[in-house]
Amino acid sequence: MALNYFSAAEAAQLIKHGYNIGLSGFTPAGTAKAVTAELAKIAEAEHAAGRPFQIGIFTGASTGDSCDGCLSRAKAIRYRAPYTTNPDFRKCVNAGEIAYNDIHLSQMAQELRYGFMGKVNVAIIEACDVTEDGKIYLTAAGGISPTIARMADIVIVELNAAHSKAAKGLHDVYEPLDPIRRAAIPICKPDDRIGLPYVQVDPKKIVGVVETNWPDEARSFSAADPITDKIGQNVADFLVSDMKRGIIPSTFLPLQSGVGNIANAVLGALGRDTTIPAFNVYTEVIQNSVIGLIRDGRVKFASGCSLTVTNDCLNSIYDDMTFFGDKLILRPSEISNSPEVIRRLGVISINTAIEADIYGNVNSTHIGGTKMMNGIGGSGDFTRNAYISIFTCPSVAKEGKISAIVPMVSHVDHSEHDVNIIITEQGIADLRGKSPKERAQTIIENCVHPDYKQLLWDYLKLTDGKSQTPHALKVALAMHAELAASGNMANTDWAKYM
Ligand code: COA
Repeated sequence: MALNYFSAAEAAQLIKHGYNIGLSGFTPAGTAKAVTAELAKIAEAEHAAGRPFQIGIFTGASTGDSCDGCLSRAKAIRYRAPYTTNPDFRKCVNAGEIAYNDIHLSQMAQELRYGFMGKVNVAIIEACDVTEDGKIYLTAAGGISPTIARMADIVIVELNAAHSKAAKGLHDVYEPLDPIRRAAIPICKPDDRIGLPYVQVDPKKIVGVVETNWPDEARSFSAADPITDKIGQNVADFLVSDMKRGIIPSTFLPLQSGVGNIANAVLGALGRDTTIPAFNVYTEVIQNSVIGLIRDGRVKFASGCSLTVTNDCLNSIYDDMTFFGDKLILRPSEISNSPEVIRRLGVISINTAIEADIYGNVNSTHIGGTKMMNGIGGSGDFTRNAYISIFTCPSVAKEGKISAIVPMVSHVDHSEHDVNIIITEQGIADLRGKSPKERAQTIIENCVHPDYKQLLWDYLKLTDGKSQTPHALKVALAMHAELAASGNMANTDWAKYM
């Protein structure tokens, strides 16, 4: 059956008010872009004419401005899941305008299949190639593409010339069956291939192909600074010490590393420390730093869900697939983030906290307990199932006015039961094998900024000091209250809040 080619504007006309759309991609990498940008124009015109126009969005993770940015500004999003980083979307969510369902990324595809989130009316899949018999070759991410392409009533393909056809060799597309027929996911090593290099859909569902030439809208990260460098070095020192103690095998274990500047600094430090042998990466987001480490021979193999790299880095990979072809693999998010596989492989997870408390609970998502920052992403998938789970963060934020370590986190994403290690630029708190009271001593002693240490020791004196997890509940959030009142947690006077 010959493919039908049409414009992005024509494709967008197929999406009606009240529809749910499923998008390829994971982070801005591999996300369909042209149709959603046109859809924003339709929404604006409909709103100007006094008619409602809002849709639901299902995707792998964050998208770029052409989706979350344009559609948020056009007030066109009713519902969205999962993770996103877009500042305009964030404003709308925190103004109560969008229903945002922030779920673990590994669960997105299966929750759609289970019927938790409603129907997928239209799937828009970015491709580097598509065939008349329904083979869609993805670009820079696996995301939830196999699931939405299969579940949607109709499929629109964005054939994006900005991605080389060399991307074809990167993908391993596998969709598990649902209980009670689900079998083990047969990945026993990070480089195991278990699926197909393309997404197969019923060709009758492909209503059209939109040809584009639109590079990925990847964010760039600021350069490492002395704080992130020190955190990175502390992580490397910790891992070396665990390897010398025999806790981590001398052949090392696969690493997962989160997104952002700290993650880049951590990987940089691990790359430089040659006491750590060349290692594998089993992660969700493959950033520029991993590509550099593959080139340097420090990373042997990287399995991820997306190549969230700058466009020049992406093109350098496409241009050198004879080198990268057997060192990189992209998987759907429910496989890259599969709890089963993470636990089997013994992945060491390294993620960033917004704040942690003295007992080891971690908040990764909410500023001041109520305002959404980005979302939980894959941090929960990896933390809960890791061989060793590590959280990093600078000990203070906003020029020292906020301590990242507080008596009680204002929102819990990762509980004390899942968090093994907390690392700031001040030092390392090893929480393994410790009771809550022992953890509090270790965290305050090793991770807290000197400006806040006495304040936290004083907090402990307000508790009974005996119970399983001693708290003075009336003042447990006083540092947050003081920040709201005076703009500086360091001004906290416990007596004022008792
Ligand atoms: N209270 C208030 N604001 C805080 C804060 C705190 N305790 N800690 C940090 N912030 C602010 C920073 O000042 C910064 O603000 P700015 O944007 O105005 O400069 C912002 O939060 C981001 O912090 P930054 O230090 O730049 O860290 P980052 O870019 O590494 O992001 C997270 C940190 C936690 C927001 C980010 O890693 C994230 O979204 N994590 C959750 C998802 C995840 O872990 N994904 C990876 C899984 S594979």
